[in-house]
Amino acid sequence: MSETDYETAYLREKQLRKQAEQLLEDRSRELFLANEQLKEVNSNLQEQQQIVVQSEKMASLGVLAAGVAHEINNPLGYIYSNFSSLVEGLQDIQRLLNYMDGVIAKGETAESLRDGWRNALLQFDIAYLLSDYQSLALETIEGLERVKQIVADLKSFIRQEDGEKAPVDVNDCLRGALNILNNQTKYHAQVEVDYGELPVIQGYFGKLNQVFTNLIANANQAVPENGLIRISSRLVDGWIEVAVSDNGYGISEEHMRHLFTPFFTTKPVGEGTGLGLSISHGMVQEHGGEISVKSKPGEGATFTVRLPVKA
Ligand SMILES: Nc1ncnc2c1ncn2[C@@H]1O[C@H](COP(=O)(O)OP(=O)(O)OP(=O)(O)O)[C@@H](O)[C@H]1O
Ligand SMILES: [Mg+2]
Repeated sequence: MSETDYETAYLREKQLRKQAEQLLEDRSRELFLANEQLKEVNSNLQEQQQIVVQSEKMASLGVLAAGVAHEINNPLGYIYSNFSSLVEGLQDIQRLLNYMDGVIAKGETAESLRDGWRNALLQFDIAYLLSDYQSLALETIEGLERVKQIVADLKSFIRQEDGEKAPVDVNDCLRGALNILNNQTKYHAQVEVDYGELPVIQGYFGKLNQVFTNLIANANQAVPENGLIRISSRLVDGWIEVAVSDNGYGISEEHMRHLFTPFFTTKPVGEGTGLGLSISHGMVQEHGGEISVKSKPGEGATFTVRLPVKA
C-alpha cells in the first residue's frame, strides 16, 4: 500500500470510529433519558401504591365503621331504654314520698305511721322496684363497658404508628381483632379461641391488630354458613405462634404462589382488593417475623404468624 492508501484508510477508520462514538454517545444519551423516565415512572408508581394502600386501609375502615356503628347501636339501645325505666321508677319513688308525707301529716300514733309505711311499701312495690333498679344499672354498666371496649379497639386499630415499638400483649391484640370483626363473624361462623400464655413483645399493637383482622376476615370470607374458625396462640422456642385456621374452600396450588402479591384476589370486584395479605406480610416483617400458609383445596386453610420474642 502506498502512503496515500494508508492515509485514506486511516482517515476512513477515523471517520468510522467517530461515527461509532457519535452513535454510542447518542445511544447513551437515549439510555440515560429512558432511565430517567423509568425512574420517574417508578417513583410515580410507588407514590400511587402508597395512596392505594392508604385508601385500602380507609376502605376497610369504612366497612369496619359500619360494623362498629352496628355494635355500638345495640348496647346504646338498651342503655337508652334502661334509663327510660329508671326515670319512670324515680316517679314512683316521688309518689311514695308524697304518699308518706300525707300519712305523716295525718298520722298521730306510731301504729298508724307504721301501717302507713307498710302499706306504701306494698302499694308502690318498692322491693320489686329496687331489684329492678339494680339489674337495670348492672346491665347499663355492662353496655357502657362494651362501648368503651369497642372504642378502645378502634383506637388501637387506627393508631398511626411510625414511632417506637412498645410492649404488646399479642393475646390482647387478637381479642381486639375479634371484637372489631364480631359483627361480621357472629352470624356466619363459629369462632373457637385458645390463647396460650405469652410474654409481652416489643411491637406495634395497631399493625399486629390489623394483621390478625385481615387473617380472620379472610377466614370468615372463606368458610360456608356456620363454618369454623380456630384461633390459637402459643410460645414455641422463643417465638410466638398465632394460627388462624378455617374449614373453608381452601387454596389451590396455583393460587398459593400469588397469595402475598399485591392486588392478587379471587374475590369479586368490590369484595376484595387483594391487599390484605401483602400488607400483613410487610407488617409481620417489620416485627422480624414471618407468615406461612398450609392449605388444600376444599380442606380449609391455616395461616400461621410467627413473631420472635426478642426481635
Ligand atoms: N383463609 C383463606 N382461605 C382461602 N383463600 C384465602 C384465604 N385467605 C386468603 N385467601 C386467598 O388469598 C387471596 C388474597 O387475600 P388478601 O387478603 O390479600 O386479599 P382479599 O381478601 O382478596 O382482599 P382484601 O383483603 O384486600 O379485602 C384471596 O382473594 C383468596 O383467594
Ligand atoms: Mg383479605
